[in-house]
This record gives sequence, C-alpha cells and structure tokens, in this order.
Amino acid sequence: MMKSVLAAMIAALLLGLSLTAHAAEKPSVALGEKLFKDPKLGGATGAKSCASCHPDSAGIEFSYKKPNLPQIINMCIARGLNGTPLPEDSVEMQSLILYHQSFK
Ligand code: HEC
Repeated sequence: MMKSVLAAMIAALLLGLSLTAHAAEKPSVALGEKLFKDPKLGGATGAKSCASCHPDSAGIEFSYKKPNLPQIINMCIARGLNGTPLPEDSVEMQSLILYHQSFK
C-alpha cells in the first residue's frame, strides 16, 4: 500500500520534471536569432554562423514565403557551416523558422 503511494508520487514528480524541461525548450524567435548567430549550430566547428553570410538578415528577408524553407536552412547548415542538418520538428529548426517569419 505505502509502496504504491510512493510509486505514484515518484511518477508524478518525474512527470512534473519532464513537463518543466519541455516548457523550457519551446521554439521561439529569440532562440532562432541566437542560433542564427551561433557558429556551433548543427555541430559545426568553423568560425562562421548564418549571420556571417546573411548579416542583418541580408538575402533572407522574404524567405519565410518559401514552402521549402526548412530544406533551404538545412542546405545552408550543411554547405555554409559544414554542420549536420536539423530534424524538421526539432526546437532548433522550428525556432529558426520563427526567426525567418519574424521579418514579415
Ligand atoms: C558561407 C555562406 C553562407 C552561410 C554560412 C549561410 N548561408 Fe544561407 N545562403 C548563402 C547563399 C550563397 C545563398 C543563396 C543565394 C541567396 O539567395 O542569397 C543562401 C540562401 C539562403 C536562404 C534562401 C534565401 C532565399 O530566400 O532565396 C536562406 C533562408 C538561408 N540562406 C538561410 C541560412 C541560414 C539559416 C544559415 C545558417 C544555418 C545560413 N543561411 C548560412 C550563403 C550562406
């Protein structure tokens, strides 16, 4: 009896923790902008970030209109940064998309 109460409490605690961790990882424009300026995006090890080639969002002002935006971003991660493309449903990719959409 006590054991199952304890187990339920631990389960509730773990659920609470995982919900909190998830909330901290919500996609946002701010995170997108941070990643855009981060040379380590996609595990890259060079000195360049997205912002090096697109300073002040040069050339990407209207990219939010492109239906294949995630693929373009991944192309630039791979070719521009020598990094590893991001899963499309990742918080990082969703944040980068939000950042591009913030120029609307
Ligand atoms: C080494 C330089 C370089 C880096 C680094 C780079 N890009 Fe690009 N990017 C380009 C070039 C070149 C093009 C194609 C020509 C153009 O449209 O300006 C392009 C095109 C794009 C486009 C499509 C523009 C359009 O609407 O036609 C997007 C969006 C974009 N880049 C996003 C990014 C993101 C996000 C990053 C960081 C992951 C990044 N780029 C890193 C050079 C770079």
